[in-house]
Amino acid sequence: MSLEALKEQAAIKAVGYIQSGMRVGLGTGSTAKYAILELARKLREGELSDIVTVATSIESERLARENGITVLDLDPTPLDVAIDGADEISPELNLIKGLGAALLREKVVEIQAKTFIVIADHTKLVSHLGQKAPVPVEVVQFGVQSTLKRLEQYGNPKLREKNGELLVTDNGNFIADLWFENPDPVTLERNLKGTLGVVETGFFLGMASRAIVAHQDRVEEIFLQKAEG
Ligand code: A5P
Repeated sequence: MSLEALKEQAAIKAVGYIQSGMRVGLGTGSTAKYAILELARKLREGELSDIVTVATSIESERLARENGITVLDLDPTPLDVAIDGADEISPELNLIKGLGAALLREKVVEIQAKTFIVIADHTKLVSHLGQKAPVPVEVVQFGVQSTLKRLEQYGNPKLREKNGELLVTDNGNFIADLWFENPDPVTLERNLKGTLGVVETGFFLGMASRAIVAHQDRVEEIFLQKAEG
């Protein structure tokens, strides 16, 4: 089975947790896309009704609206569930996110979810964060070279480009992808958040309460032994 098919399987399973009347956070990326499309199908075919959503990127908002899903601005009302992909998933369900550059809005939305379900194909499982991916760090454009210099004490930062130009996020910032070796993401997250010029990081620590991971032969559900909500 292709990785695309695995992503879709995980997404479809996760959308099974959405019930009519819920407020839902929509993720961003090639896996979250399948959750948006499955939610749209269920609404179209009458399997779900009375759903409102909040999107984590301009791209996901557009996809949702094009497919008939109601998208609202985020307000302080909690979301019942948020469903999103990840770049790395540790055994504790700590995540690296943001290779799709939507990390800031993702974190702002997903922190408000009573249940945050992360969906992925099996290639995203790692024994520790940083095993395969850098942590994306959203940084302000002003003085970016100075910010990069400050980040160098924590690893090797590289400004992300797209189509030969520096990538600019939905929030008007740059992304520095930071390759790091620190085995303790909690300390690294604290240090990065305390670095002048840093807006947010792609560490999502203690936020996801379950993961749905598609393998070639099964769809695995990983639950954390903590109360949701
Ligand atoms: C978007 O900024 C990201 O956090 C994505 O959710 C993450 O990169 C996973 O994306 P894919 O599902 O495309 O691998």
